[in-house]
Amino acid sequence: EKGTYPHYMLKEMDEQPAVVRKIIQAYSNAEDELTIDDNILEAIKEADRLYIIAAGTSYHAGLIGKQYFEKIAGIPVEVHISSEFGYNMPLLSEKPLFIFISQSGETADSRQVLVRVKEELGFPALTITNVPGSTLSREADYTLLLHAGPEIAVASTKAYVAQVAVLSIAAYVAGKAKGKEIDFDLKTELAIAANGIQTMVDSKEELEQIAEDYLKIARNAFFIGRNLDFYVSSEGALKLKEISYIQAEGFAGGELKHGTIALIEEGTPVFALATQEQVSLNIRGNVKEVVARGANACIISMEGLEEEGDRFVIPKVHQLLTPLVSVVPLQLISYYAALHRRCDVDKPRNLAKSVTVE
Ligand code: F6R
Repeated sequence: EKGTYPHYMLKEMDEQPAVVRKIIQAYSNAEDELTIDDNILEAIKEADRLYIIAAGTSYHAGLIGKQYFEKIAGIPVEVHISSEFGYNMPLLSEKPLFIFISQSGETADSRQVLVRVKEELGFPALTITNVPGSTLSREADYTLLLHAGPEIAVASTKAYVAQVAVLSIAAYVAGKAKGKEIDFDLKTELAIAANGIQTMVDSKEELEQIAEDYLKIARNAFFIGRNLDFYVSSEGALKLKEISYIQAEGFAGGELKHGTIALIEEGTPVFALATQEQVSLNIRGNVKEVVARGANACIISMEGLEEEGDRFVIPKVHQLLTPLVSVVPLQLISYYAALHRRCDVDKPRNLAKSVTVE
């Protein structure tokens, strides 16, 4: 029930700090260390390559998961959009493990790949889902649950945050088990991120003002970032378009000059994420390029990397965990942009919560 909330989406965004804390608990053992099921850990360790298959927001979480498994656990990963996998099946490695990421566990595009992987190819599959007993969970060999609680709003928010958190834990536990040198304590860092998310959901007034200042009359909007910020930019653009119907595009800052910059006009809103230390200068360079062409740029940076003129600053969190926090202001900006346009936030036109057709 949404109780006193005007929309499920708002309630679900507010639940995000609690969801991360719940996940930390659910994936902790008696010694208070992060853990995952032994069989799943074994399956990940045995694989020579992970193939992440997902759609929409879950695909965006998968892109972040790739970085986690590669950087923390040293396991190569490919991420594929489920609807494309059928025609563009990559050459597979010898010992692949397929990972299906799906909030609902019912997405037909993903299921079609799962059936093929299991029945035709006979490879192992792990489903990461919010719904125990869902089709993708039942049909896979293994399941990791998101523990986000029911997500009712069509636009996915807390499930995305849960997906990123669970992926970080799986990669971390696998990295430890493989004896990788890991110089941070994920449990502590996730707890810090949960507090950071809390600060974000407590910043609604400021974010509503940003939505008003940048999107009130906008026909289109751009989201740019580099590295992890690029993936979060893609997710921010998807959130905005699906609930406010403002045409939005998320892309890598470096790609601007290869075409998209032609679209920048006087007043075009450009949201730039600047939470990644090693590319902070480059993304700020991209912002200068769009501002010189008239863009109305909104820089969202992170404590420690902020500069004068940044419109919004997220609390400092571990470099790998910035997506958990930086996505939240983008969700809230989209929410308020949709409200200002009197859109049906929880049930956007043309969309269904779970897409059970291919
Ligand atoms: C966007 C959104 C969709 C879903 C996609 C996959 O907010 O909700 O893009 O992420 O339809 O759905 P699941 O994760 O249920 O497989």
